Amino acid sequence: MQPATPRKPQVNCGYTLAQPGHVHYLLVMSTDDRLDFPATGRNAEPILGVLRRVLPQQGTVLEIASGSGQHVAHFAQQFPELTWQPTDLDPDHRRSITAWTADLANVLDPVGLDATDDPWPLHAADAVLCANMIHIAPWEAGRGLLAGAERVLNTDGILYLYGPFRIDGVHTAESNAQFDASLKSRDPSWGVRDLNEVAHTAAEHGLNLETTIEMPANNLSVVFRKTA
Ligand SMILES: C[S@@+](CC[C@H](N)C(=O)[O-])C[C@H]1O[C@@H](n2cnc3c(N)ncnc32)[C@H](O)[C@@H]1O
Repeated sequence: MQPATPRKPQVNCGYTLAQPGHVHYLLVMSTDDRLDFPATGRNAEPILGVLRRVLPQQGTVLEIASGSGQHVAHFAQQFPELTWQPTDLDPDHRRSITAWTADLANVLDPVGLDATDDPWPLHAADAVLCANMIHIAPWEAGRGLLAGAERVLNTDGILYLYGPFRIDGVHTAESNAQFDASLKSRDPSWGVRDLNEVAHTAAEHGLNLETTIEMPANNLSVVFRKTA
């Protein structure tokens, strides 16, 4: 089993968008391949509480944009009966995922997956998870995520999203508005998505908005279920 925290020395190799509640951009690299996304470590437990309510008892959970791999490492230990398939676009992130999950028998090797690809390199899942990706990527990645979830999920399968959202075009907190502005200054195609637009596009892909749950730091858990 890996030690609880990555080894030192640590090198700050991350973005500079960090602000309270959204410091997942401040990433730290350890001497092994494990990246440490501080906010990911913090939000894993609140997300786990929601996953306990919505994940199936058995099957395969496909995580899109697994990032450092801290989430999948944490969740896989809590759901040993589920098989976890992490993915990410970024090879450095995939190396980090491998390092964080090396000793976990129910975590498959990370796969290089761009959410915009059609088809995805993976073809079936009982649940799809994606945290903190759709606002830090062009909306095409969000659209690709919804289209891909439609392709891989069975009827009644769930898509779980986590992150900040606007509601009816309005930010839910001033900190989210500032965060949105900082994202757009970095890349105009990025930005906090409107839940209505996400839900509308999801519905076009047979994914019905089932529930939204307020999370710490002005984030939401959003659960869609595939209807047919
Ligand atoms: C802020 S990180 C979130 C990582 C992790 N889910 C978490 O919550 O800590 C965003 C991740 O999205 C990935 N990403 C960005 N665009 C993507 C795309 N089009 N398809 C798949 N992954 C993507 C990045 O490589 C990065 O790992």
